[in-house]
Amino acid sequence: MLTLGIETSCDDTGAAIIRDEREVLCEFLSSQIADHSRFGGVIPEFAARKHLENLLPLADAALSECHISGHDLDLIAVTRGPGLMGSLIVGVMTARALSQAWDVPLIGVNHLEGHLFAPLVDSGDLKPPFLSLIVSGGHTEIVRADDFGKYELLGQTRDDAAGEAYDKAARILGLKYPGGPEIERLAKTGDPYAFDFPVPLKNTGKIEFSFSGLKTALLWQVKKFPADKIPVNDLCASFQRAVTEALLSKVKLAVRMTGIRNVAASGGVSANVALREALVNAGDFRARLPAKGRCTDNAVMIAMAGRNAWLRGVRTGGVVPDPSLNEWLQKS
Ligand code: KG4
Ligand code: ZN
Repeated sequence: MLTLGIETSCDDTGAAIIRDEREVLCEFLSSQIADHSRFGGVIPEFAARKHLENLLPLADAALSECHISGHDLDLIAVTRGPGLMGSLIVGVMTARALSQAWDVPLIGVNHLEGHLFAPLVDSGDLKPPFLSLIVSGGHTEIVRADDFGKYELLGQTRDDAAGEAYDKAARILGLKYPGGPEIERLAKTGDPYAFDFPVPLKNTGKIEFSFSGLKTALLWQVKKFPADKIPVNDLCASFQRAVTEALLSKVKLAVRMTGIRNVAASGGVSANVALREALVNAGDFRARLPAKGRCTDNAVMIAMAGRNAWLRGVRTGGVVPDPSLNEWLQKS
């Protein structure tokens, strides 16, 4: 079974073709980071225009790389939400047109269910039940997957997402967008204990996160130094330690509360080496991480999630973009 995955929810344009469950035949990704970083964040209108420029050439490149035509596909899977409305419209309307032109069925995929599938590309033996830590620029959630398609939200952030916190912290420190990789790079030569940033909500006994106070704590520290004497590396390392501890402590709590010892992680922040090491070395559970390159948005995870849903009998009909799509989760 050949599935074309299309991802355009934010600022990465992705097209990928997989065979059967998880054999990646080809994968194309066009990042807009260089375009957006000069503005310090994603400009939605600009992102949509870039998707419009890039998506069809990427889909064409994917077909040529696999030496197939669009008619040979068995399914097209496209992200229908959550995400930026303009970006989603480009992906969904392009996918609808291709589906009509090639007479190939189409399925709309929830972007977060896509992230949940990312670790499965490399860990095919990962089967439900498992916990999934989804940590991206827009989401920080712990989800319980009792089966594919049966997901329960165990807890989420009260305010900023972890990636958003990294991005805002980077802006405070005068670093470029996206902030996560920049902070990680500078943290390597900083002291994680130089600043005693609080680990937010650590002992509440609930699966919940909050990162906006941490960002404010960073801002107060920065203000204590003259502009040319800010200890950026120590601040980065200490900030990263606090975010990592907050994420790890709630994953451990979720493991204790559910008894589920397989923990998948995904989303841009799961590329962070400090977090990856903390999860792998925690000991109380087995961490299943996507390859670093597949933590951020990509089309392979959308193809996998779409194919899985299609074979479960999910039919999304004429796919409509939905920027705040949340129907895949049951609230606990
Ligand atoms: O999953 P993703 O590509 O897009 C969303 O769906 O949001 O995640 C992007 C987010 C950004 O906030 C970025 O700063 C963060 O992931 N990120 C990282 C790292 N790489 C990307 N955060 C911490 N460490 C990293 N290495
Ligand atoms: Zn994402």
